Amino acid sequence: MTDQLKDLEDEVAARTAALNTQAELDALYTSVLGRKGGRLSQIMAGVGKLPKEERAEFGQRANESKLRIESSFASAALRLRDAGLRSELAKTYDVTFPATAPKRGSIHILRRTLNDVVSFFRSRGFAVVLGPEVESEYYNFEAMNIPADHPSREAMDTFYLPSGALLRTHTSPMQVRAMLQHPPPIAILVPGKVYRRDALDARHAFMFHQFEGLQVGRGVTFAHLKGFVGDLCRHLYGPERRTRFRPSYFQFTEPSAEVDVSCGVCAGSGCRSCGGAGWLEMGGSGMVHPHVLRSAGYDPELYTGWAFGLGIERIALVRHNIDDIRLLTENQPAFVEQFQ
Ligand code: DAH
Repeated sequence: MTDQLKDLEDEVAARTAALNTQAELDALYTSVLGRKGGRLSQIMAGVGKLPKEERAEFGQRANESKLRIESSFASAALRLRDAGLRSELAKTYDVTFPATAPKRGSIHILRRTLNDVVSFFRSRGFAVVLGPEVESEYYNFEAMNIPADHPSREAMDTFYLPSGALLRTHTSPMQVRAMLQHPPPIAILVPGKVYRRDALDARHAFMFHQFEGLQVGRGVTFAHLKGFVGDLCRHLYGPERRTRFRPSYFQFTEPSAEVDVSCGVCAGSGCRSCGGAGWLEMGGSGMVHPHVLRSAGYDPELYTGWAFGLGIERIALVRHNIDDIRLLTENQPAFVEQFQ
């Protein structure tokens, strides 16, 4: 009878190693270990025919057999489960295919340019504040000293919303909003998106980014503006670049000046990339108009200030000698990846 046990163990080991489906495994399991009529039970039923003193030993031997048989079934079950998973995977993935390394991302050059601007203003103790892109006519125009019938409203082609609100055409409206929130002195940077109804071409976009610098306090002069903007341009373009102020006109500043930076390609002598001028236009600036200070509740007899507004796209284009603003938003990998 002990031999029968041994034979059964060997047989089960061989058959479980060879079977291929769960159904075969289940059938074999019942035929060997089933309580009623299973082959192990049948062998054990013979225990009564043994002499009494051999029964205990046989019982122990039978238990060991049962354990070995169960372990054969267990390893077959594992093997089947593994094979099942593998074949499921093979339907969708080739797990042996070499992996491709993920591409490394990078900071977009607009964001990088903005970060440089922000770090400069922060180093000078300016606060960074953000304003609404959906703005009222009042803050976008009136408070900036641009009355309803003024022709410069048309010059800034504006997107109006059905409600009568508009998409801000510049970051300047935040000058008054910030001054209303905060008593003088004030020193802020306002970066953000602005919108204009311009046709898209190499130099124009209907949405772009500006930032506004504003400093108001007692005894603030044009010299402070010049010094600040000169330092900013050297920070952004390099120490060898020069800045120049050209007399200009804005409703919200008096006097007003346009800011130019010397061309990085010809260093001011005139070349194709600056159209022969030797200088590149960067944006507008000036001393904050008394009307604007008054709209903000600041007394123009006591306080003076400077403001300027520059375009972030413009700076990025000039810094990298890029000649088409559309490249900045088309997000072609070949272009974007150059600025890692
Ligand atoms: N807001 C003007 C624009 O979008 C730029 C500007 C000019 C801003 C003069 C200023 C300034 O703060 O003083 O064209």
